[in-house]
Amino acid sequence: MSVNDRTLSQQAIDLEDKYGAHNYHPLPVVLNRGEGVYVWDVDGQQYYDFLSAYSAVNQGHCHPKIIGALQAQAAELTLTSRAFYNDQLGQYEQYLTQYFGFDKVLPMNTGAEAVETALKLCRKYAYEQKGIPEDQAKIIVCNNNFHGRTTTIISFSNDEEARKNFGPYTGGFIKIEYDSLTALETALKNHEHIAGFLVEPIQGEAGVHVPSEGYLSGAKALCEQYGVLFIADEVQTGVARTGELLAVHHEQVQPDILILGKALSGGVYPVSAVLAADTIMKVIRPGQHGSTFGGNPLACAVAMAALDVVKEEKLAENAAALGELFRSELSTFIDTCDLVREVRGKGLLNAIVINDTPTSNTAWEICLRLRDNGLLAKPTHGNIIRFAPPLVMNKTQLLDCVSIITKTLSDYRA
Ligand SMILES: Cc1ncc(COP(=O)(O)O)c(C=O)c1O
Repeated sequence: MSVNDRTLSQQAIDLEDKYGAHNYHPLPVVLNRGEGVYVWDVDGQQYYDFLSAYSAVNQGHCHPKIIGALQAQAAELTLTSRAFYNDQLGQYEQYLTQYFGFDKVLPMNTGAEAVETALKLCRKYAYEQKGIPEDQAKIIVCNNNFHGRTTTIISFSNDEEARKNFGPYTGGFIKIEYDSLTALETALKNHEHIAGFLVEPIQGEAGVHVPSEGYLSGAKALCEQYGVLFIADEVQTGVARTGELLAVHHEQVQPDILILGKALSGGVYPVSAVLAADTIMKVIRPGQHGSTFGGNPLACAVAMAALDVVKEEKLAENAAALGELFRSELSTFIDTCDLVREVRGKGLLNAIVINDTPTSNTAWEICLRLRDNGLLAKPTHGNIIRFAPPLVMNKTQLLDCVSIITKTLSDYRA
């Protein structure tokens, strides 16, 4: 590395530090190029991306088909707002609803916006179709959830970092234990005016917590029994990440409301969506909800290309097969290494739990060593490291990554 290159990297970090809000704590690596499963830093150093922008880049960096669609559409028309029709939105809505098996979609941009949209839709449906008295609707959510950063969403977070000093908070939420059908049934029995149950099929941010088999199908059945909407937040788990198109498909569940984001565009452009049946979506009428950018032609063209890639390249199947291999290789290693307690996950959404306290910086230190060895990952919640590579990875690359991880862990305390 030349002195000049080193300066470039430090300069980029210094600029962010000086002019940007300090709302993130990035790993010190400055990237300027990506292709497939790889990213490169400003010094030309190559890395495996083992985070995929928090599961947004499932289709791999700069996928030629998605970038081609972006470039072609950008040269024609980018934004009309919904004041006028555009020639892409209808096609996209048809494509997306058929792809996921719903009647209608409401297009938005970011994950948090889509969650907000789902909450509003759920409440409005409760008032107008279920007859819940005005302002009484309640939505059940789970402890340790992560659904985004808006004021309403952080109102029902129990992450103090995300919540503290942002009040006053939005009411109308009941928090229950995750992965407990008993807790769900108790809440449904003991509270009046429940409109919906919002759940992550796997809690990603909380540290890749996979619920027990039967939890999602059991929760859906309870929601049906009590006449409550089952709302799946698949912003992180959706679009092939867990080895099925949707994580709820592992239990043959079709949510009443589905929330998608991130990989809907292959990480190329912010695109999110809320899908539901006609009977639910019809409660939203002109002027009641929207976004200047939601459903713009660029987003539509990009998302259709991104979803084509998922099917054409069999990304769900690949995630399922490589995920099995990853966990089996790491489990074998963990038996010989007391630095790691556990590997867990589904498909290519996995995590290892470091054998140290959640307040220790061991996981961070390990991520720095992984970086030095050519692989980028990030701790989530202290002593947990999430591993979520692009789904276009092949077996040779995955085994190479396993070697980097196991070598890094073995060397850590050597
Ligand atoms: C399950 C889930 N929902 C919602 C969001 C928020 O998405 P965004 O950051 O695009 O607002 C995230 C982001 O990580 C997420 O994991």
